[in-house]
Amino acid sequence: MPGDDLLPLQTEAAAAIAAAATLEALEAIRVGLLGKSGAVTALLKQLGALAPEEKKTRGAALNILKTSLTDALAARRETLEAAALTARLTAEKIDISAPPRPEILGAIHPISRTMEEIAAIFGAQNFAIMDGPDIEDDWYNFSALNIPSHHPARAMMDTFYLNASHGNRPAVLRTHTSPVQIRTMLEWARLHGAHAEKPAIRIIVPGRTFRADHDATHSPMFHQCEGLVIGRDITLAHLKGCLIDFLHAFFGRPDLPLRFRASYFPFTEPSMEIDLGWDRKTGEIGGGGDWLEILGSGMVHPNVLANCGIDPREYQGFAFGMGIERLTMLKHGISDLRLFYESDIRWLKHYGFSPLSPAMLHEGF
Ligand code: DAH
Repeated sequence: MPGDDLLPLQTEAAAAIAAAATLEALEAIRVGLLGKSGAVTALLKQLGALAPEEKKTRGAALNILKTSLTDALAARRETLEAAALTARLTAEKIDISAPPRPEILGAIHPISRTMEEIAAIFGAQNFAIMDGPDIEDDWYNFSALNIPSHHPARAMMDTFYLNASHGNRPAVLRTHTSPVQIRTMLEWARLHGAHAEKPAIRIIVPGRTFRADHDATHSPMFHQCEGLVIGRDITLAHLKGCLIDFLHAFFGRPDLPLRFRASYFPFTEPSMEIDLGWDRKTGEIGGGGDWLEILGSGMVHPNVLANCGIDPREYQGFAFGMGIERLTMLKHGISDLRLFYESDIRWLKHYGFSPLSPAMLHEGF
């Protein structure tokens, strides 16, 4: 057979390749065979001196040898590389677990806690919790809420306008949770039609809101909770009963003095602010002769209902909005709103709540 003389080389080389223990050893073998002055290379160089017929058969035999060695080298390389990777992964393994450090155990943030308490109280009154996007367009945030483009309320709210738009509507960071009223009513009207028999909407909307404002009582990001009740027979009496119950439950004081004061919001008519009795000097709530504004409310403006495809001659309802930071500061005697966002574990340990005692109405807050 032509090329029989190559067999010893082939066998020897195959054994050496199989036995190569490292990538370096394997590379040395490759160079010894196929490198510039390797054994196979040397044989190939001799081809030039042969007669044409001989050259052909010898060339074919050498090519088979070369291919089989190249394949063997590649296979061995793959095996060694895989082994090297496994070895590295094992050697470089880091123990990312840390021993428990009870001294930095976290707590439920007071803002989260207030939201849980609000949800528990309104949940007991059969309210559902709704959500909406932080990035709104100005139709939802303003126009649909009966705040036309020239209206001073747009300036009053220190709106963050984004360098973007939804269609041809400017995008804003929502300045209040009220746009979720619009989203909820539109969806309800879409599902049930303007003259649906069934009553209707009963939601709260806890969430993040944004205004360009920063001092001890304002933060550019803060939280509100919106409320909306729509039905065929909803009156101002429902509004009052609902919010009085809420505030008494939230502050855990059935005797908490409350005052409904006529006010103005574009999206309600009539509108009211609710004040609670407190002592301006001591900051104590419930006592003293001072009043502190705590939330805004009113009967949903007919224009707002109409904007959402709900017939104001058949339906009415009430809405309210409250600042979650404000409620939390009052309830727990926190004087500077910026502390909420400093992520100071010592502060959290003082004002936070145990994850093991969730907000539950029957246990009181
Ligand atoms: N959106 C108002 C604000 O941010 C708060 C508010 C007042 C909401 C009255 C309401 C409402 O739903 O009826 O200042």
